[in-house]
Amino acid sequence: MSEKLRIGQIGCGGNGTGHLEAGRVSGVVEPVAVCDIIAERAESRKEKYGAKAAYLDYRELLQRDDVEAVVISVPNYIHHEIAIAALQAGKHVLCEKPMTIKADWAEEMVKTANASGLVFQVGMTSRFRPEAQWLKKYVAAGNLGEVYFGRARYVRRSGIPGWGSWFTRKEQSGGGPLIDIGVHVLDLTWYLMGCPKPVSVSGACFSALGHRKKGVGSWGRVDWDGYFDVEDFATALVRFENGAVISLEASWAAYTNENNAIDLLGTEKGAQLATDKVTLLTQEDDHNMDTVVTMPKRRNVNNFVRQMEAFAKAVKEGGPVMTTGDQGLQMVKILLGIYESARTQKEVFL
Ligand SMILES: NC(=O)c1ccc[n+]([C@@H]2O[C@H](COP(=O)([O-])OP(=O)(O)OC[C@H]3O[C@@H](n4cnc5c(N)ncnc54)[C@H](O)[C@@H]3O)[C@@H](O)[C@H]2O)c1
Repeated sequence: MSEKLRIGQIGCGGNGTGHLEAGRVSGVVEPVAVCDIIAERAESRKEKYGAKAAYLDYRELLQRDDVEAVVISVPNYIHHEIAIAALQAGKHVLCEKPMTIKADWAEEMVKTANASGLVFQVGMTSRFRPEAQWLKKYVAAGNLGEVYFGRARYVRRSGIPGWGSWFTRKEQSGGGPLIDIGVHVLDLTWYLMGCPKPVSVSGACFSALGHRKKGVGSWGRVDWDGYFDVEDFATALVRFENGAVISLEASWAAYTNENNAIDLLGTEKGAQLATDKVTLLTQEDDHNMDTVVTMPKRRNVNNFVRQMEAFAKAVKEGGPVMTTGDQGLQMVKILLGIYESARTQKEVFL
């Protein structure tokens, strides 16, 4: 890539810092400016990553002509406001997941992005897992036959992030593990299955432990004066136009083992995607056969680095956008449909 992409980092919390670090490791971006409503956080990231300026208000950052693109990593309820302002200011956008927490906000984001002609990429980091990319190509080439079922599981036994903070306040987060981590595996399973059109969802949500302050994890900052009004476990069945379904389980806190994976059932083969490996399952001569495919490692390179490389390439070279605004919008509709179904205890048609 000829020139580095000059970025503004909006939100310098745990994940925003991860993006700055990914930018440094990738070598494809230059952090021109950073922003956080907590002054010392913005200042310290400015110093550490060599940015020119630190701001408390993202609008000031957006006024800089030398910022070509922004990375938005703030609480979910302000993704929408900042993404639209950034696009209107002529900046390319990498926006964290979930894209936003309301369907009409998501539609507005897509409309603004389309009208701008700028790159708008949703931060579905898991799509960059090398084993996911390998499996994506394998499935797309037809090796599993027709894929009719996907099982997506991302459960934590004791991993509530930032108890009491924005993470566990529905108004600010949009929900609990479903929208926070379930979205990663649901999106990845959907992507592997070729992003079929979703038609209906049926879901159930529970808060068995979280409201009792059980299952608190290490991510985020705890605020014991805050509150917890989201689910701590969610399950759902999503139906697609082509007849395929995805079954989902997501939890922040549950008395269960964390044996997380994505399973795909095809008419010719099955596949299981787990950390760093894919297992292909089939039968030959009436014998069950499992083939394990492992991935080579790149030193210090994680999915955030790969994501940053792809974003910079999309902006600089017109490369493909990994997760488009339209896909982000469809995912928001699925997630909100699951919450609605859980509330009404009925199947919701999208
Ligand atoms: N892709 C992933 O794997 C992944 C992982 C973790 C978090 N995330 C996403 O990243 C986002 C941030 O999560 P986090 O864990 O970093 O949370 P965090 O609470 O650690 O950080 C959020 C930061 O945003 C700042 N902020 C709040 N309002 C702001 C505003 N108006 N302008 C500028 N800064 C503002 C806060 O002060 C804080 O520093 C969330 O959307 C989350 O879902 C994604």
